[in-house]
Amino acid sequence: METKVWDLRPYRDDLTRYPDLSEIQQIYRQGGLIALPTETVYGLGANALDESAVRHVYEAKGRPSDNPLIIHVHSEDQLNDFVSHIPADTQKLMDAFWPGPISFILPLKKGYLCDRVTGGLDSIAVRMPSHPIGRQLLQLVDLPIAAPSANLSGKPSPTTFDHVYHDLNGRIDGIIQGDQSEEGLESTVLDCTQVPFRIARPGAITAEMIESVIDQQVERMGMVDQDRPIAPGMKYRHYAPETPVTIVSTLEEAQALQGDKEWSQTALIFPDNYERDIPDQASFISLCQNEQDIKGANHNLYHVLHQLDARSDINQAYIFGFKPSDETAAIMNRMEKAATPSVAKGE
Ligand code: TXA
Ligand code: MG
Repeated sequence: METKVWDLRPYRDDLTRYPDLSEIQQIYRQGGLIALPTETVYGLGANALDESAVRHVYEAKGRPSDNPLIIHVHSEDQLNDFVSHIPADTQKLMDAFWPGPISFILPLKKGYLCDRVTGGLDSIAVRMPSHPIGRQLLQLVDLPIAAPSANLSGKPSPTTFDHVYHDLNGRIDGIIQGDQSEEGLESTVLDCTQVPFRIARPGAITAEMIESVIDQQVERMGMVDQDRPIAPGMKYRHYAPETPVTIVSTLEEAQALQGDKEWSQTALIFPDNYERDIPDQASFISLCQNEQDIKGANHNLYHVLHQLDARSDINQAYIFGFKPSDETAAIMNRMEKAATPSVAKGE
């Protein structure tokens, strides 16, 4: 399959200036797959009403079919068709954070979306992205768009056009080219089908930010039985680069693990203020400015992980792990999935 590329960067402030939008619209309406930029990561968009389009999403990604997709909308009115109830607290959160990097799991109103999109669950995850290109496209197409991250299943999520192209060229109908995703990690997923609400996947909107808007405490990840997958996606190995990655909290810890071994094929992924102290032969890769720069680390993490596999001069990496807090929950969750389990757990 030939994958078309549309570079819409010059039109980001007003997509209607682009002469051939109807082609994109047609492809979505007819069940084709087009990847699109969002502020979190690039998504692989498909018409959520079309059973075969959604089946193709799972095939193109190589994703297990019991892992449900998030539905992307441009207006809250669209939710009336497929959400049976919006709790008052969820409405407050939508008012505060939409459009933006948070998805809500809500009770499903059956019969509108195709069955495959929910993986058989009676709930549905919904999100309204803020990205200028992504948002305008959703408006233009005016359909509920199912959009998982536009990567092969098990690979790090894509934050640039190149990442999407690398994984999915030849497997989907098209890719819309935008800039690097601003947030860099997937949206927060908040399960609103239970009280207290529960973080099913941490993201840029933190538990603390959510609690500042509503009057209930939110259940953080890790507060429930670890063996029970919260979001179904959590049970699969995710986000992993080929290069083995070990999380450390200091440079000394990396040095102790390295022992007498040479540093020449090793990357140290650390905040910039560590650069002058790294061993001569190691490759320094910048994670962010300093230990307080969580936003920068979120923005860079997937790009750094993609870079590791692209570089033949690196065969292992140590990455700086942040201390646990609401703000670092998202980056540490992704980093732990990217890290090599046996090494990270010291087994
Ligand atoms: O930022 C994002 O959310 C990106 C961009 C493209 O919008 N999308 C994304 O989709 O990350 P995906 O499919 O890669 O991740 C969706 C996550 C999975 O962990 C899935 O298991 C969970 O949301 N999920 C979706 N629907 C669910 C449901 N009804 N109940 C529980 N978990 C659900
Ligand atoms: Mg994903």
